[in-house]
Amino acid sequence: MKIAFFDAKDYDRPAFLRIGKAQGVEFKFFETKLGEDTVQLAKGFDGVCVFVNDDVNAAVIDALYGYGIRVIALRCAGYNNVDVKRCYGKIHVVRVPAYSPYAVAEHTMALLLTSVRRIHKAYNRTKDFNFSLNGLTGFDLHGKTAGVIGTGKIGRIFARICSGFGMRVLAYDKYPSADVEATYVSLDRLFEESDVISLHCPLTEETYHLIGRETLEKLKKGVIILNTSRGALIDAEALIEGIKRRIVGAACLDVYEEESDIFFRDFSGHIVEDDVLARLISMPNVIVTSHQAFLTEEALENIAETTVGNLVCFRDGGVCENELCYNCGQVEDCRKQRKAKCF
Ligand code: NAI
Repeated sequence: MKIAFFDAKDYDRPAFLRIGKAQGVEFKFFETKLGEDTVQLAKGFDGVCVFVNDDVNAAVIDALYGYGIRVIALRCAGYNNVDVKRCYGKIHVVRVPAYSPYAVAEHTMALLLTSVRRIHKAYNRTKDFNFSLNGLTGFDLHGKTAGVIGTGKIGRIFARICSGFGMRVLAYDKYPSADVEATYVSLDRLFEESDVISLHCPLTEETYHLIGRETLEKLKKGVIILNTSRGALIDAEALIEGIKRRIVGAACLDVYEEESDIFFRDFSGHIVEDDVLARLISMPNVIVTSHQAFLTEEALENIAETTVGNLVCFRDGGVCENELCYNCGQVEDCRKQRKAKCF
């Protein structure tokens, strides 16, 4: 089975080559993203493997179908960049629903500790043989209140990590769960009482700009905002206002609403056009990482293993539990009940 692998990065290759070889799946790596201009590269392959910023729109799907391609393997959980309805009846779409919730939760705590103990500043100082401690005063997390929004796979692990630090943990979830180490409260109470707020809910119409101008008035003064979920959960301009008004004490962002043309790329020799991002990065109490929370060896191994497993399942004619259900838009539920392919 020959798969065209788009938007390939150096860190993707080892696990995909090794696991693919063992299962008879051969990958050809293309550094370019899949889109209307590059889709012809997929000619002659049995399938394509894509990531979060490949643009799999209707025209691309029609072209892939014309080349005889019958499977798109997403090596990520989200699929907002694939026109899944257009795929119905033509091309099967499989994904990796979870790769390492620990990777994301641990990165969130790494950002929080970096921020409260000023590690990013201390690192730069000692590199320059400056051993002064002025301006590096942090605070104890022990005894502080963490507010976790979204207690699914990642949020519940972050809640447990916070408990381990001796923090009081409040949580808000649209669908609370009995086995989460936190006290569920209303969103307003979480905003009012939390010293640290961490976002772990999905991006939906309901959660779009969850942290926005109106929210600022409800927050505890000096709160630290952590976002390792999706950029558009925060209105970045409102965040800047909150920081300037000293309501928000610090922000740690692994995701950003307008990240798709910027993150994963090297702009170090260029002028970045995005003034909002540039302003955030210029602030001493803002830490930005480039959507790297997932990036651990364990997660990369899981992504490769699940993706190859999905492709093998498709090749061998089985019902793949990680296939999307494009027909009704319910993603997983109806197919699980029917135990059959969508088409
Ligand atoms: P999950 O689906 O296991 O959990 C999401 C939770 O959010 C669920 O408990 C759900 O009930 C809750 N939720 C849904 N709507 C809500 C609402 N309106 N208000 C409050 N809670 C709501 O998802 P998982 O795996 O924990 O992922 C969480 C987020 O992390 C996702 O947005 C995902 O895209 C992001 N993520 C980020 C990565 C990174 O590298 N930065 C890597 C992987 C995931």
